[in-house]
Parts: sequence; C-alpha cells; structure tokens
Amino acid sequence: MDVLVTGGTGALGREVVKRLIDTGHKARILSRKRAAGDDWVQGDLVTGAGLELAVKDVDAIVHAASDALDPRKYHATDVLGTRRLLAMAREAGVRHVVYISIVGMDGVAYPYYKSKLAAEAVMRENIVPWTMLRATQFHTLMEIFLDAMSKLPGLALVPFTWQFQPVDTTDVARRLVDVATAEPSGMLPDFGGPEVREFKSLAISWLALRKPGKRLVNLQLPFKFSRQFASGRLLCPEHRDGMVTFEQYLARRYPAQKLKQP
Ligand SMILES: NC(=O)c1ccc[n+]([C@@H]2O[C@H](COP(=O)([O-])OP(=O)(O)OC[C@H]3O[C@@H](n4cnc5c(N)ncnc54)[C@H](OP(=O)(O)O)[C@@H]3O)[C@@H](O)[C@H]2O)c1
Repeated sequence: MDVLVTGGTGALGREVVKRLIDTGHKARILSRKRAAGDDWVQGDLVTGAGLELAVKDVDAIVHAASDALDPRKYHATDVLGTRRLLAMAREAGVRHVVYISIVGMDGVAYPYYKSKLAAEAVMRENIVPWTMLRATQFHTLMEIFLDAMSKLPGLALVPFTWQFQPVDTTDVARRLVDVATAEPSGMLPDFGGPEVREFKSLAISWLALRKPGKRLVNLQLPFKFSRQFASGRLLCPEHRDGMVTFEQYLARRYPAQKLKQP
C-alpha cells in the first residue's frame, strides 16, 4: 500500500515510516522541512501548503503530525490542520486515515490535550473513514521532560509522584502500521507501555546515564494537571501492550553507556 505519514520526521512518525518500508509498503512523508528524497512532500498543516500533493494517490494516511511544543500553534496545527488534511484526503479519494492520540486525557487540565480532544472530534465527523489509537506517553517524551527539568547546575527538579506508563515508539508504530494497512475500525482499545512507573524511578535511570551526579529533588507543582498526573489519570494498566521498557529503550539509544537497574 501507499501510505502518507504526516509527522514522518517526528519521534513516532520516523518509526512508522521504517515499519511501513520493512513490511513491504510505500511511505510518503509530509514535513515542513525541505524534501530530502522522492517520497517526501514539503508542506504545512497550518497553511495548507503541499497538502494536495501529499494526499494524491495514497491508500491511507497515518496522521502523526502535531505541534506539542508551541501553545500558540496547538489549535492551528492539531485542530484546523487535521480538518484541512481530512478535506484534502476526501477530495483525493483516500480510504482510511489513522490518528494517534493520548490515553486518559479527557478532563485532564493540560492545555495541549484540549486541542487533541478537539482533533479527535474532527476525526469522528467521518470526513474520511477513520481509525484512532490512544497511546500512553512515549519514552522520547520522558527524555524531553527530564532534560528540561535538569537544566539547573547540580540539580534535577522532578515531580516524583507523577505516574506514567511509558511506551516505545517502535511498539506504537508496529500497531499503527497494522491498523493503517487494514480496514478503518473507529476507536481502538488504549495502547500502553509495559510498566507503570513513578516519575522518580524513571528520573533515576535517566540521570544515571545522561547527567550523573545531579541531586534529584522533588518538585511540587501547584497545578491541577500535576495532581492529575500523580493520580494516574494517564495510565491504562489493563493494556500493557508495548514490550520495550524505559531501561531497554535507554540501553538501545545510548549503547556505549552502562545503565544501573533501579
Ligand atoms: N509524545 C508522546 O508521548 C505521545 C503520546 C501519545 C500520543 N502522541 C501523539 O503522537 C503524535 C506524534 O508525537 P511525537 O512525539 O512523535 O511528535 P514529534 O516528535 O514532536 O513530531 C511532530 C511532527 O509533527 C510535524 N509537524 C508539526 N507541525 C507541523 C505542521 N504545521 N505541518 C506539518 N507537520 C508538522 C513535525 O514535522 P516537521 O518538523 O518535519 O515539519 C514532526 O514530524 C502526536 O499527535 C502526539 O500527540 C504523543
């Protein structure tokens, strides 16, 4: 099959592209960056540039593009951009769009989730036959959080009690490719990582490898979302689908370094 991967340069999208190719499919990437090959369309969900070309002659789309880093762009990228992509896909006769979303975000007061929920609602309008998969937080996101929380000299300030069930992008990509190359199936069961972990224990593993010697200090954030993260709202312990643990991910990503098990 020919599959367009929006966000094909991102943490998850890269793995989706690899998995598609490894399983005998053709992958086309949509990215704002200049094309780095034939199977790459430069475009932008916010302006609509390149979308018509991106969706042309594909059988399915894995929609994994999102702008989680810039709050000013959440709505334009995730909500309006998703609507724009679906309208173009419908025009082009695309038969299936797969959207990746986030486990447990309903009612959690984390600003990005408002746009993800609104994007899910756009998917449900049935503009194109759809499938949606909600996954727990990726290992790559754990690293982004921990890196940002350990910028002060000698210190890492981490909310010890946040609970995550981190999942590997290779595990999520495998599932997404399976569903994208099958018939549209609506909302799928949640997809979670193999272990529920307190953020403190993830921080210990990560710091030992990336920033050894830093003093780990509990950070108490006076925000509703922080209490919700700590209460386990983002977990799906009944769905331990992913196989790769955080420590296995670290060992794969930083092979030259020795990791102490927590
Ligand atoms: N990270 C997590 O823990 C997690 C958990 C569950 C679900 N998800 C969902 O999984 C998806 C992928 O997450 P990720 O962590 O892999 O993201 P990521 O690494 O931040 O990658 C985001 C991708 O979106 C593309 N993008 C951003 N704005 C764009 C725009 N205006 N037009 C076109 N492309 C744009 C970027 O491509 P260029 O920069 O090349 O343009 C990039 O490839 C998101 O929908 C996210 O909500 C993430």
